[in-house]
Amino acid sequence: MTAITIEDLRELARRRLPRALFDYVDGGAHDETTLEANREDLRRIAFRPRVLVDVGERSLETELLGAKQALPLVLAPAGNAGMLSRRGEIAAARAAEKAGIPFCLSTMSIVSMEDVAAGTSRPFWFQLYVMRDRGLTRSLVERAQAAGASALVFTADLPVSGQRDRDLRNGFTVPPRLTPANLLDVLRHPRWIVDVLLGPRITFANLADSSAGGSDIVSVARHVALNFDPSITWRDIEWVRSIWRGPLIVKGILSPEDARLAAQSGADGVVVSNHGGRQLDGAPSTISVLPAIADAVGDRLTVIFDGGIRRGTDVLKALALGADACMIGRAFLYGLAAIGEAGVARSIEILKTEMDTSLALLGRRSIAELDRNCVATER
Ligand code: FNR
Repeated sequence: MTAITIEDLRELARRRLPRALFDYVDGGAHDETTLEANREDLRRIAFRPRVLVDVGERSLETELLGAKQALPLVLAPAGNAGMLSRRGEIAAARAAEKAGIPFCLSTMSIVSMEDVAAGTSRPFWFQLYVMRDRGLTRSLVERAQAAGASALVFTADLPVSGQRDRDLRNGFTVPPRLTPANLLDVLRHPRWIVDVLLGPRITFANLADSSAGGSDIVSVARHVALNFDPSITWRDIEWVRSIWRGPLIVKGILSPEDARLAAQSGADGVVVSNHGGRQLDGAPSTISVLPAIADAVGDRLTVIFDGGIRRGTDVLKALALGADACMIGRAFLYGLAAIGEAGVARSIEILKTEMDTSLALLGRRSIAELDRNCVATER
């Protein structure tokens, strides 16, 4: 099957992965209303194209946080990416590097930040989860700095983990529920077994050394679950600001009030995000809150949009409504699960081609020409 769309890559990923793992990537919290709203609200926006504009010369280049990049995209942080494909974080980082866009590594990666740095030459962004143990948190920030990370993304919308019903049903929990059905599910996916299970050791490598209970993935996951800090506040952003030298971005912003607080706390940017519908079900779709946030802080902060991007047109809509760039999560994870680095490259290529064609059909030549005149009111 040739992957023409992100949806094609999703289908390939569905076949390649054990069901529990596919559902972990694909699913969201509770009834998945926010997950669906992210897609649906993007879909409902209509363009306002202009014609007979010379679109012979076009560019998707942009500048983000002072650095030039080929496309207005960033690969979003995703825990467990190394479970989807062998050394998955390095595969994704390499594909991003070749495409000329940033890759953001999750705290909960399978490959360590030092190994990602060694396996790539473009600096990556590092996403931070704050642990109760501030010494450990500080050491993560210092290691990211030493590994050459070029931006720090502080994820603010996970004081506790949202409940994902599919994961509970499938036993994709800490510790995992091993049932005959689960084992059979895994055995039915020999290519994944050979690629991932028989590959390098699987654990949360950034945290393995600091887990008192053992360095295997279940012990570390248990340790981390107990150590996620639900008491984090804006003070912690100020604290991280004081120890991190470089751009600081707060991820998980859904209101202008919080965007302003991010600016006051010393952040350089925000990611308008509901964690891909994986945290609070019933949270608004990200595209519905983007314009007000861009109005509130767009002149002071870099505004990155995230949630529900599956088409190049989705990216153009978000940029027209005030975003400087878009993070993509599942769109690249499906590609990674389907065919590793080549799959991530394919995901980016698909979105790039769709963006380029749609930009021309919209009667625009560059990212800078995307503004609210490009979209009509909602249908
Ligand atoms: C995520 N996301 C996420 N975010 C984060 O800050 N740290 C993390 O470790 C993870 N882990 C993670 C795992 C998986 C499997 C998914 C799908 C997502 C959220 C991610 O960064 C991003 O906000 C969403 O994926 C965006 O929505 P789309 O693009 O997937 O619709």
